[in-house]
Amino acid sequence: MTAGYIVTGIDTGVGKTVFAAGLAGHLGARYWKPVQAGLAEETDSEVVRRLAGRRAQVLPETYRLATPCSPHEAARIEGETIVAERLVLPSGEGPLVVEGAGGVLVPLSDTLLTADRFASWGLPAVVVARTTLGTINHTLLTLEALKAREITIAGVVFSGDENIASETAITRFGAVPHLGRLPHLVPLDAETLAAAFVSHIRTELLG
Ligand SMILES: Nc1ncnc2c1ncn2[C@@H]1O[C@H](COP(=O)(O)OP(=O)(O)OP(=O)(O)O)[C@@H](O)[C@H]1O
Ligand SMILES: [Mg+2]
Repeated sequence: MTAGYIVTGIDTGVGKTVFAAGLAGHLGARYWKPVQAGLAEETDSEVVRRLAGRRAQVLPETYRLATPCSPHEAARIEGETIVAERLVLPSGEGPLVVEGAGGVLVPLSDTLLTADRFASWGLPAVVVARTTLGTINHTLLTLEALKAREITIAGVVFSGDENIASETAITRFGAVPHLGRLPHLVPLDAETLAAAFVSHIRTELLG
């Protein structure tokens, strides 16, 4: 069975790629972004190549869509259909870090939600959450959607400034491990990320 993690989040732009790069570098893992929607900016795979360090390996995306919007709509605009059968875990040696697009209920097609594909892979999920206002509701809803599909939750990792009240409420009501919090890094590069990862993330829970 493949080892590794799904890295998902409560929203787009919450820090999934940065965390996934840190995790892939730490584990010496393969990183896979199954569906990339938006090619004009640096892609997530390119960011991971830049931030994860030499121990990580970046696998090719299965779908590369130019339009920066929900994958189901990007595919429709570009005359493609994302099919579940093509979204299978890549074979090969070593752990995998898989980053979903946006959040768990993002549609991949008119009949397929991201979390439904996650459920087929059998990997535990790490949820990346903000610490700002609104995060408790968004994070607990995300955890409920994962639990409803019997997806194992490795824990929640926070991104940004510390907010003990929110972090505590999420891990208490969600009944999931607090995996740590990545602070805002300036500069953000492979060295600062690797150092922050080992000092701020409970790596003993992410074997
Ligand atoms: N710990 C951090 N320190 C500094 N900048 C960060 C950190 N985490 C995230 N960022 C910045 O915030 C932005 C969004 O982060 P990131 O790309 O990781 O989000 P995402 O959840 O992967 O987004 P998407 O849904 O597009 O995949 C990026 O510009 C990234 O460099
Ligand atoms: Mg990303």
